[in-house]
Amino acid sequence: MEKQHKLRIGIFGGSGYGGSELLRILLFHPNVELVFVTANEQAGKPIGEVHRNLNGLTHLNFVKAPETLDAIDCVFLALPHGQAMDVVPGLPANVKAIDLSGDFRLRDQAVFEKHYKQPHTAMSSQAEFVYGLTETNREAIKQARLIANPGCFATATLLGMAPLVANHLLSGRVVVDAKTGSSGSGAKAAANTHHPQRMNSFYAYKPFTHQHVPEIEQELEHVGDWTSELVFMTHSLPVARGIFASIYAEAKEEMTEDEVRKLFADYYRESFFVRLVNGSPDINWVKTTNFCDIGFAARGRQIVVFSALDNLVKGAAGQAVQNMNLIFGLDETTGLKLVGTNP
Ligand SMILES: NC(=O)c1ccc[n+]([C@@H]2O[C@H](COP(=O)([O-])OP(=O)(O)OC[C@H]3O[C@@H](n4cnc5c(N)ncnc54)[C@H](OP(=O)(O)O)[C@@H]3O)[C@@H](O)[C@H]2O)c1
Repeated sequence: MEKQHKLRIGIFGGSGYGGSELLRILLFHPNVELVFVTANEQAGKPIGEVHRNLNGLTHLNFVKAPETLDAIDCVFLALPHGQAMDVVPGLPANVKAIDLSGDFRLRDQAVFEKHYKQPHTAMSSQAEFVYGLTETNREAIKQARLIANPGCFATATLLGMAPLVANHLLSGRVVVDAKTGSSGSGAKAAANTHHPQRMNSFYAYKPFTHQHVPEIEQELEHVGDWTSELVFMTHSLPVARGIFASIYAEAKEEMTEDEVRKLFADYYRESFFVRLVNGSPDINWVKTTNFCDIGFAARGRQIVVFSALDNLVKGAAGQAVQNMNLIFGLDETTGLKLVGTNP
């Protein structure tokens, strides 16, 4: 570790679901001292009153803004899209930052503005950001000051595709059929995420236009020689947490399931948080954990990869802490061996 003292950490936007998970992890992280947590409407309230799972576990209150950023080592930003770009350019140069939003993931301003439907006002800061998919970008993350934490769908999709793309095994288009739980839309209810609407329901949304598509394509080009077509389709599941992606691909040559498994096992041999399973993964076994479970099936040249994770943990706060660990020279699993529940 670079420093002897505990890392002094601040959170911008701690009263939402991403912030809630950051707090659940960071309050018990052995190398972290939590200094401030901001909120907007919830500012002034005790954290344990807003996140009732944390009742009795911290005396901190949400604040509107930090009094100072002096002596802060790292901040997490869990704000709605479009707000981190107001905060990051003003951070002192010695403060590291991990942004959970989409503000700094895309290198092309025009692509950002098309998919997020707003102007980008801090592209000069974007150039300093490293894309924080830990398993494909570990060495760059260790050297980074600013991390753009990946989207939840992007994490599930990229972890399911990276070994195939990096080994140049695919031919033709890849179809990704992905589903998310309702917490992906944040803590504030909207008409289409409201309980009566979501429960016992299942529907597709944002065909061809989901904002994670350019992020996935950008990272696939970084991982391998990706020139194929990606068809990416998102659906709403009637559960609170979880992403499940079925990835349909065609290999250049016939492959057995065992060959696909060996390829993934080699690629992820250093990656504690990627677990290879037999048959299908299940969002129940990754819920509340930082694991991404991956399973396969193969027939001739056809391959299907199944990828499951918790959108709020490996898809957001857990991966963000994994990246913080790497930046500060800690073991990447520190504070993150979160165990799920059975059932
Ligand atoms: N949910 C997921 O599965 C997920 C996964 C990956 C990435 N992300 C990204 O992570 C970010 C946070 O997501 P979330 O689901 O945690 O959102 P959320 O539940 O809506 O929380 C947003 C947070 O930002 C604060 N906030 C809202 N408007 C603000 C303003 N005008 N000024 C200052 N603070 C403001 C909110 O404070 P109040 O509560 O006080 O209003 C809250 O703390 C988003 O960019 C999201 O896209 C989310």
